[in-house]
Amino acid sequence: MAKQKRSKSEAVIKRDKRIMIKTTREPYGFVADHGEGDYVYDVDGNEFIDFTTFISVYNMGVNTNQSIRNATKSQMDKLTHSAFTDFYAEKPVEFAELLTSFMPAGFGRVFLSNSGTEANEAAIKFSKIFSKRIYTLAFYNAFHGRTKGSLALTASNSVQRAYNGPFPDTIHVPYPYCYRCPFKQTYPDCGFSCIDYIKKFPLSKEVNPKEVSAFIVEPIQGEGGYIVPPKDYFKELRKLLDQHSIIFIDDEVQAGYMRTGKFLALENFGVTADIYTMAKSIGAGFPMGATITKNSLGNIPEGSHANTFGGNLAIAAGAYEQLKQIKHNHTKMKSSIVRKGLVVKKRLEQMQDTYEMVGDVRGIGLMLAIEIIKDRGSKEPAPKKRENIIMDSFSEGLLLLPAGESSIRIIPPLTVSESSLRKGLDILEGAIRRNSKLQIKS
Ligand SMILES: Cc1ncc(COP(=O)(O)O)c(C=O)c1O
Repeated sequence: MAKQKRSKSEAVIKRDKRIMIKTTREPYGFVADHGEGDYVYDVDGNEFIDFTTFISVYNMGVNTNQSIRNATKSQMDKLTHSAFTDFYAEKPVEFAELLTSFMPAGFGRVFLSNSGTEANEAAIKFSKIFSKRIYTLAFYNAFHGRTKGSLALTASNSVQRAYNGPFPDTIHVPYPYCYRCPFKQTYPDCGFSCIDYIKKFPLSKEVNPKEVSAFIVEPIQGEGGYIVPPKDYFKELRKLLDQHSIIFIDDEVQAGYMRTGKFLALENFGVTADIYTMAKSIGAGFPMGATITKNSLGNIPEGSHANTFGGNLAIAAGAYEQLKQIKHNHTKMKSSIVRKGLVVKKRLEQMQDTYEMVGDVRGIGLMLAIEIIKDRGSKEPAPKKRENIIMDSFSEGLLLLPAGESSIRIIPPLTVSESSLRKGLDILEGAIRRNSKLQIKS
């Protein structure tokens, strides 16, 4: 590929670094300009295949599609904001009705907000109100957001929590990360030592289970490294929670909205939760969060929770149009995600067979990742090699994002064409080959 032009990008980055508070910018310095479908372009006109969906947001293609954008535009000409938690409006209600049609039976209450963190804040607050209990359980390696309440649940990187603790009402336990089992055991022989640990330690030595309000889970850990639990894990966990009437909160912010081929990623594990949270893709490129509760939990007292922008009319109009498209194409979409996911996974597994540094391949549907390691013997994470692969892919026209300590996520739009997938995977493999000292097979 010809060397990319960078002058306009560099100029924006220079101005940005002077004025903006630091966040989590990727080292390759992509400066967005426009995009559609599988492709996105930077301000210098360089073209990239998108394997990031801009952090799991553009599930329906980069910049969604014309009819979704038209729905937002025509609502903008009528009224954008209506203070939906104070005054009534039809659009957000219509959206919530459609959203609950994708939920398991008995889910009929929705709170609309502006982000994943806000959806999780609401879930935690509601569960405490419903249960009248104090503690929340969450996983190490979890990512649930960056505002104070959800930050207490997040434990994937200590820098995110620095100087903000203590978080006295949250207890963390190990996630079932079988590739690096914290108990050094192997599934299924382990008989779920990680669940035994929860029973024997936090729930007997630290707190009485009757004081625990909720357990929040990611069905597939996202920022933590795209970690997929064993098939029966959540069934076992659900049994434990039911035994103590602990509310099961399922954070579908990254894994949900058809990403795994099912509307909710938890469906892959054959269990239902009591509260679901969603964000990212549901807003069709705009900020939106949703907290959906089971009817049998009841309702919260009037006045105990609200916001200014939740249920914004223009956002609800685009979100509704997007969800309507999913409803109409549901069966076709499901099978296409599963089919494309299998194609990608097979190709990644071939890379694992060929290059020693590809230690693990995991994921469901089009939520996939590879874990980059130093060698198969030690399985030591190789974050520098991971960065080199991502940078190299960028210079060849593929956008990738890291996850966890040394994984690379592969999350193209769900609408991606098979030829874009193939092109992207060729670029990825080229980058792995160039950064690989040792090939198992040549
Ligand atoms: C699983 C999960 N929950 C919550 C969040 C927080 O979402 P937001 O950045 O919209 O606050 C994220 C963000 O990456 C996430 O992946």
